[in-house]
Amino acid sequence: MTDKATTLILFGATGDLAARMLLPSLYGLHRDGLLPPALRIVATARSAHDDASFRAHAHEALKAHVPDSFFDEDASAAFLERLSYVTLDATDGAGYQRLAEAVGPSGETAIFLSTAPSLFKPTIDNLKAVGLAGGHVRLALEKPLGTDLASSQAINDAVAAAFPEERTFRIDHYLGKETVQNLLALRFANLLFEPVWSSNHIDHVQITVSETVGLEGRDDYYEKSGALRDMVQNHMLQLLALVAMEPPSHFDATAVRDEKVKVLRSLRPIRAEETVIGQYGAGAVGGQPVPAYAEELGRPSGIETFVALKAHVDNWRWAGVPFYLRTGKRLPARRTEIAIQFRDLPHSMFAGRGANAAPNRLIIAIQPEENITLELMAKQPGLDRGGIRLRRVELDIEQADAFADVRRRIAYERLLLDLIEGDPTLFVRRDEVEAQWQWIDGIRAAWDQAGLTPRGYGAGSWGPSAAIALIERDGRSWND
Ligand code: BG6
Repeated sequence: MTDKATTLILFGATGDLAARMLLPSLYGLHRDGLLPPALRIVATARSAHDDASFRAHAHEALKAHVPDSFFDEDASAAFLERLSYVTLDATDGAGYQRLAEAVGPSGETAIFLSTAPSLFKPTIDNLKAVGLAGGHVRLALEKPLGTDLASSQAINDAVAAAFPEERTFRIDHYLGKETVQNLLALRFANLLFEPVWSSNHIDHVQITVSETVGLEGRDDYYEKSGALRDMVQNHMLQLLALVAMEPPSHFDATAVRDEKVKVLRSLRPIRAEETVIGQYGAGAVGGQPVPAYAEELGRPSGIETFVALKAHVDNWRWAGVPFYLRTGKRLPARRTEIAIQFRDLPHSMFAGRGANAAPNRLIIAIQPEENITLELMAKQPGLDRGGIRLRRVELDIEQADAFADVRRRIAYERLLLDLIEGDPTLFVRRDEVEAQWQWIDGIRAAWDQAGLTPRGYGAGSWGPSAAIALIERDGRSWND
C-alpha cells in the first residue's frame, strides 16, 4: 500500500455519476471521519464554475442523492470546504497548467476519470505534460474501458505510458458492492462450502443480473455496447470469477487478482448456439406501459438488450459444470443473484417411500435484497403413514437483519476510499480486463459468423423464450 492521497482530482465533476454517486460517496466518507483530514478535492469539468458555484452545485447534488436520514447541513458545509473547481477542456493542454497550479506541490494525488473514453488518452497525455502522472499520482478509470480487446489495449497502453500498473485503478463498481465482497467471506471464511465447491458436488451455477430500466437516454453509448459489453464483459465476469476462483493465499491485490485472471483465461470460447440475444419490444414493467427499445431510440436497431449464455470454465475444479449467465433491460424485476445448484443425492433412502429430495441450492442475492439462502430438505412435521414427507426449507441470512446497526453504503464509497488509500485489491488489473475482452470478442465473432440477430421479447418478460429453452434443454431451469 502507498501513502494516503492528500489531493483527489475529479474529472467529469459536473456529470451524472459525480452527482448521483461520487459526491454523495465522498460526503459519506467525510461524515464518517474516513477521509484523510487534509484531503482536498479538486473538481474539474468543461462547464464554467468557480469554487463557490461548484460548491452550490455539489450541495444540490448531496441534497438530492444523500438519504435524508444521513444528510446533515453542518457535515455538508464542512465537506464542501474541501472542494475547489477548475474549468477545463480535457483536450486543451492550456487548462492543465491551471489544474497543476490548483493542486500545488501536492504529496500523493489520486485522479478519478469519469469522462468519455475518447478523452482518456488526451487527458492522460496532458496530465503527464504538467507532471500530474507517475510516481506520486494514481489514476482511476471508469468504464467503458474499450469496446473490444484492441480498443481496450489502446486505452491500457495510453495509461501505461504515464502510470505504472500498480498505480492504475480500473473500476468495476460491482466490486465495491458489499454483497460481492461478502462472496469472498462466504467462500473463504467458512469451512463449510469449500469442500463441496466443485464439479464433484455442484451441478451448475446461474448468474442473473436483471434490470427493469430501459435505455435511459444513453443512446450513443448503448448502441455501441449492448448487453454483452455493458454487463457481461465486466460485472458478470467479475461475479463469475469470484465464484469460480481458487482460494487466494492472501487478501491482497496480487493474490486475489492472480486467481481471478486464471478463471477468466480458462473460459471456453463460446459457440453462437450457446447464447441467446434479445431486444425488448413494448410491454409493461411494474404495471406501467413502456415503449419498445427501438421506439425509445427513435430508429430501428440491431443491438441486444438481453443476453443469456452457457459458459464453461475449463479447469479441474469446474469440468462439466455449466455457468448460465443472463442479463437484460426491461425485465420484470431488478435482481442480481448467484444460484449454486448442488447435485442430486447419490442415493435417496426416501425415494422408495414416495418422498423426493430436491437437490440443495445456495442463493446469493446481491441486490436489491442482500441475503444468502441455503435450501435444505427437512421432514415435514406429521405422522405420515409408511414413512416421512420431505419439504424444502430455507436457511436464510438477511444481511439487513444480521447487520441492522451498520449503514448500507454506496459501492463507490469503498472504491473511492481504496483509491485514496492506495489499495488496488478491488480494482481490475490489465490482464483481467484483457482476458475478459478476449472472451467477449470471441462471442461477438461467433454471432457475426452465425448471422445472429436479437429476438424480440416483451418488456416485463424474462427475455426471449429461447433463453428458457437454452437451460431447459439441459434439463434445468432458471431460478425465477
Ligand atoms: C452499469 C451499466 O455499468 O451498470 C448500466 O452501464 C447498468 O447499464 C448498471 O444499469 C447496473 O448497475 P447496478 O449497480 O444498478 O446493478
